[in-house]
Amino acid sequence: MNYDKPIRRIAIVGTGVIGASWAAQYLARGLDVVATDPAPGAEAKLRKYVDEAWGVLTAIGLTPGASRDRLSFSADMKPALAHADLVQENGPERPDFKMKLFADMDDATPPDSLIASSSSGITPSVMQSKCRFPERVLVGHPFNPPHIIPLVEVVGGAETSPAALAQAMKFYAAIGKKPILLRKEMPSST
Ligand SMILES: NC(=O)c1ccc[n+]([C@@H]2O[C@H](COP(=O)([O-])OP(=O)(O)OC[C@H]3O[C@@H](n4cnc5c(N)ncnc54)[C@H](O)[C@@H]3O)[C@@H](O)[C@H]2O)c1
Repeated sequence: MNYDKPIRRIAIVGTGVIGASWAAQYLARGLDVVATDPAPGAEAKLRKYVDEAWGVLTAIGLTPGASRDRLSFSADMKPALAHADLVQENGPERPDFKMKLFADMDDATPPDSLIASSSSGITPSVMQSKCRFPERVLVGHPFNPPHIIPLVEVVGGAETSPAALAQAMKFYAAIGKKPILLRKEMPSST
């Protein structure tokens, strides 16, 4: 599979501490963002977070075309992911939960889209293990808060393709992040 289509539409799965910050970051870079989270009140909380982050993002410098109006929200994950070029996943840090969530995201997303997890300690090999298209699953691990701190650790699992990793590295660099490609995935106990 080629992963060379332009990345313009981002899906944010899970809009807690990390997902909300990623959403603000991607909006500031002029991308379309659709977010999904089943928690009650998640959309209002997300929009409040983005509004509060917008001042600092404006001071850092917005990409032409950047707008908070390009944020949409769906409590239902399926439509949120249907047209995503890249999914940034930020759900709860539990291996079984992530395995099931990744299988669901894999089903809901075009097969040539990238699926990146923000996970701090669950390996991509575990997360991709129930996917039909595991070659596009990887970790893009940010530091908190992602809209301020440029470093992103990128790592693939046993089934991740080099082309998907290369596309993720290129994408994160293009939006001003400082991606580092890690050679080996490591589970974390924290
Ligand atoms: N907090 C940090 O400092 C930090 C730093 C880097 C990476 N991470 C990673 O980011 C991820 C998210 O961490 P967090 O601190 O933002 O957690 P959080 O608890 O703040 O957010 C998790 C969100 O996932 C949502 N969620 C639950 N089920 C869902 C589903 N089925 N679909 C979509 N969303 C769902 C929850 O409602 C919640 O809003 C974790 O994998 C974590 O390891 C966290």
